[in-house]
Amino acid sequence: MTYILAIDQGTTSSRALLFDEGLRPRKIAQEEFLQIFPASGWVEHDPEAIWGSVLATAQRAVEGVAPRSIAALGITNQRETVLVWDRDTGQAIHNAIVWQDRRTAPLCEELEAEGWGEAIGDRTGLLIDPYFSATKIAWLLENVEGARERAEAGRLLFGTVDSFLIWRLTGGQVHATDATNAARTMLYDIRRGEWEAEICARLRIPLAMLPEVRDCAGDFGTTTLLGGSIPIRGVAGDQQAATVGQACFEPGMMKSTYGTGCFALLNTGTDFVRSRSRLLTTIAYKLDGQVTYALEGSIFIAGAVVQWLRDGLRLIGRAGETQALAEAADPSQDVVMVPAFTGLGAPYWDAEARGAVYGLTRATGPAEFARAALESVAFQTHDLWEAMRQDWFGARPAVLRVDGGMTASDWTMQRLADLLGAPVDRPVVRETTALGAAWLAGHATGVVPGPGEFARAWALERRFEPVMSGEERARRLALWTDAVARTRGRAA
Ligand code: G3P
Repeated sequence: MTYILAIDQGTTSSRALLFDEGLRPRKIAQEEFLQIFPASGWVEHDPEAIWGSVLATAQRAVEGVAPRSIAALGITNQRETVLVWDRDTGQAIHNAIVWQDRRTAPLCEELEAEGWGEAIGDRTGLLIDPYFSATKIAWLLENVEGARERAEAGRLLFGTVDSFLIWRLTGGQVHATDATNAARTMLYDIRRGEWEAEICARLRIPLAMLPEVRDCAGDFGTTTLLGGSIPIRGVAGDQQAATVGQACFEPGMMKSTYGTGCFALLNTGTDFVRSRSRLLTTIAYKLDGQVTYALEGSIFIAGAVVQWLRDGLRLIGRAGETQALAEAADPSQDVVMVPAFTGLGAPYWDAEARGAVYGLTRATGPAEFARAALESVAFQTHDLWEAMRQDWFGARPAVLRVDGGMTASDWTMQRLADLLGAPVDRPVVRETTALGAAWLAGHATGVVPGPGEFARAWALERRFEPVMSGEERARRLALWTDAVARTRGRAA
């Protein structure tokens, strides 16, 4: 038996999955780790907690398996999160600054005021926002004592989580990342495929700190930390890995992953499409030297709204209870929730917006709250879908492939199909992120089927067809548009 190990280092937990050669998951290990909130809007992770949880879960996943039967290791990761470490000791100089962290909003405003928006959009495909790595690296160099001098002397290295893990796994032999992770830094020219010297110069980030950028399926060195020699052969940011795991290899194919947030990616092929609707242009994957681009819509709160019902409001004991509550909600009550807990992502990019609930009456109870929370995820996806339609797929027929924890709720998936007015496809295998990383590593090693065969093996578990009437759909979308406009304090 030949296996492929996938490490999925996410925002709230690290997971390791062992796949067999038929790409069926055989073993799963998972560990949550601490979220650190040092100030309002700041989010950090302890680099040793990331590393410790990755190593422990990987060791558990390969326990009892001969290392020589593991053909390759694939890594997928929370994107944008920044680590800076000493090249001699491998020790990070500060906690990791997480993608959700908003501390660099003032620097982003400066960049905007200096007129960098157009150049950054044109070269990196991104908007100026604290979400991306660039301003977080600049913050570390500015605020950690001695960091700038050490960086300029070539002693410090930067990496997103994938790079940090590769460095540690290879014992400091390889300082590399893949094209999809590089594309999220706001420092990478995604058309030319190189680090962008002007943006680095403006942010005083030495080019020597940056990792070498490689294809997603390729040679990232070898680790000997899991009992034998295992080659690292696949790397991609988690949303891009899910795009691969969903086999969205053809232009026009689109997936949406529902984790803490929701990230929708539309494959646009070899076309770099600049969004007119405030979506991001990004790299879907790079295979055999060929870049495939995507349009991306990023929503910061999806599953997190259900967590809030459970841990914040204590309305429910388990996430799974929301479905029955939503089904029991009074259809005559139009309760609408805008979960802008950390601002609004695409297509609004409003860092100042905060959450709100509209339409409350004396009759409103937990059921209406639960329905509003689940429906808010469908409404937000609708906004991304609409933006994608305007930017790219127009009148072409389109289907949305979904994955992630929230897709277990039939009610939410049906409401999503109803509000999109388009089919929503839920696959049999929902471990798509790890599956994508495993496929990339297996592809580089030649032990898995090629893209065509892999795509044909993608199996549908259930298709949700829209059944809501056109009038009701329009009425509900108008309620949402109104709620977003009120939340932002001005007309949308
Ligand atoms: O861009 C952030 C994204 O990669 C985080 O994904 O699944 O760790 O919340 P997740």
